[in-house]
Amino acid sequence: MSDGKITIRDNGPYVIDMPAEIVDTEGKSWSDDTKRRIFLCRCGKSENKPYCDGAHRTINFESKISEG
Ligand code: FES
Repeated sequence: MSDGKITIRDNGPYVIDMPAEIVDTEGKSWSDDTKRRIFLCRCGKSENKPYCDGAHRTINFESKISEG
């Protein structure tokens, strides 16, 4: 595991390997040092933003970075 590594999952969330500093535009911290990984919503449909709640699967979110 690499500290602060961000992986973009095809058709899914951003995967953040902790520790990493995650803040919003107001400066509020969304980091959680108790977790090894955090999953951030990329589809915009999570009911628990900024975290992924799996909603991307129910809407068949499609985004493959490798395909440009
Ligand atoms: S990426 Fe998983 S709910 Fe949005």
